Amino acid sequence: MKIMLKYILYNIVSGCVMRVLILAAGLGKRMKSKYPKVMHKIMGKELINWVIDTAKKLNPSKIGVVLGHKNELVKKILPDDIEVFYQMEQLGTGHAVMSAKDFIADEDILILYGDTPLITEKTLKNLLEKHRNTNADATILTAILNNPTGYGRIIKNEIGKFIDIVEDVDTNEEQKKIKEVNAGFVVFKGSKLLEGLFKIKPNNNQGEYYLTDVPKFLDNVETYTLEDFSEVLGINNRIQLAEAEKILKERTLKNLMINGVTIIDPDTTYISPEVKIGQDTIIHPMTFIFGNTEIGEDCEIGPMTRILNCKIGNNVKVIRSECEDAKIENNVSVGPYSRLRTGTVLKDNVKIGNFVETKKTIVNKNTKAQHLTYLGDATIGEDVNIGAGTITCNYDGKNKHKTFIGDRVFVGSNSSLVAPLNIENDSLIGAGSTITQDIQKVL
Ligand code: UD1
Ligand code: CA
Repeated sequence: MKIMLKYILYNIVSGCVMRVLILAAGLGKRMKSKYPKVMHKIMGKELINWVIDTAKKLNPSKIGVVLGHKNELVKKILPDDIEVFYQMEQLGTGHAVMSAKDFIADEDILILYGDTPLITEKTLKNLLEKHRNTNADATILTAILNNPTGYGRIIKNEIGKFIDIVEDVDTNEEQKKIKEVNAGFVVFKGSKLLEGLFKIKPNNNQGEYYLTDVPKFLDNVETYTLEDFSEVLGINNRIQLAEAEKILKERTLKNLMINGVTIIDPDTTYISPEVKIGQDTIIHPMTFIFGNTEIGEDCEIGPMTRILNCKIGNNVKVIRSECEDAKIENNVSVGPYSRLRTGTVLKDNVKIGNFVETKKTIVNKNTKAQHLTYLGDATIGEDVNIGAGTITCNYDGKNKHKTFIGDRVFVGSNSSLVAPLNIENDSLIGAGSTITQDIQKVL
C-alpha cells in the first residue's frame, strides 16, 4: 500500500509512467563459470541485483528481466516483484527484447543490461529527463571514449542529429574513428519500440537481431552523454569483475569521507554503498562493512572487523570483531576478538570483551562480559558482571533453552549456567559453579 502510494505520488509529480526491462540472457562464456554471469557478485551482491536495486529507485511501474542460460538459478535470487521472460536461444539484444514483447506497453520503457552494475540512479534520471523534455521516441545513453573499440558507434549528421548505431564488428574504417559510443542503455516510447522491433533484421556480421538497429527507424532520437564512463563498465570476465568491485568501493568510500567519516586506509577497507555512517566516526584498516548497516557518530570501528546488517549507535568501539544482525546502542565497547551473532542486542554502556560470543541475547545497560564467555538465548539485566569463562549452556542435545539473569547479578568466573534458568535480581554466584536450578534473590 505504502509503495503503491509512493509510486502514484511520484508519477503525479513527474507526470509520467515508466517500465524497466533488464537483459540478462547472455551466456557470459568469458567468465569461465558454472554459473550465469549475472549471478557473480560484487560487494556481496549479485550483478543483476545491483541493477534491479538501482532501477527500483526510479519508481518504475514494473520491472522485467529477460533470462536464458540456467535461468532457474537466476530466478531464485530475484526479488518476488520482478516479471521474468525467457529467451532460450541468444539471438541478440533485439531478440531478447522481443522475447518480452508482452511487457512493452504505451508507457516509456528503459532497457538496462544485467551485467552493468555500476550505473547510478542520477545518470538514469538525467537520461529519462532528457527523454521527456525533448519528447523523443528514443534517448540513448552515450559516452565519449579515447578507445572506443568493442562498442557500438553513434553516427550523427553534420548538425549533430542522430542517424544510426553501428556495432564495432560492422564498422568501416571511417566509423571506427568515431569516439561517441552506445553505452548500452536506451529509453524508448513503448509503442515506438514495438514498431521498430518488427523492422530489424539479422543481416550483420554476427547474424544477430540488434536492439541498436531500432533507433534508426524512429523519427526523433536523442542522445544523453555520460560524464563518468566507469558507470557503464560491462562485466565480461573476472578481471572486469574485480575492476567493478574496486570502482564501487572507491566511489562509496569517497562519498563517506566527503560526508565526514574518517577512513584511515581506503585500500584495505570495504564498505558497500547502502551502509550509513555518521560524522566523526573512524574506520580503521582491514574492515568490512556490508548489508543493511547503520553506524552512528563518533564511533571507532576496526581494525580487522567485519560488520553485516547491524544497527550501531553513537560512540561505540568495535575492535577486531565479527558482528552480524546485531543491534548495539550508545557508548558500547566490543572486542577485541568478540563475535556478536544474530539477535544480539547490546544496550547503552555495555562492555563485551575478548573471546566473548553472543547469540539471541539481550544485554541491558552497564553490564559487562569481558572475557572468554558464551551468552546464547539469554536476557541479562542491568549492572550485571559476567565473570571470565561463563557459559550459558543453552542446548541439551535436542532443544535450545533460555536463561534469564536479573539486575545487579554477579556471576563468578568459570560458571556453567544450565538452561532453562532464571536467576533473580541481586543474586551472587560463586566462581566455578554449575547452576542447574533457578536462583532466588539473596536476602
Ligand atoms: C552492446 C551493444 C553495443 C554497446 C555495448 C555497451 C547491441 C547489439 N550492442 O554490445 O552497441 O556499445 O552493449 O556495453 O546491443 N543479451 C541477451 N540476449 C542476447 C544477447 C545479449 O539477453 O541474445 C544481454 C546480455 O546478457 C547482456 C546484454 O544483453 O546483459 C548486452 O549483451 P552483449 O552481448 O554483452 O552486448 P555487447 O556486444 O557488449
Ligand atoms: Ca557487454
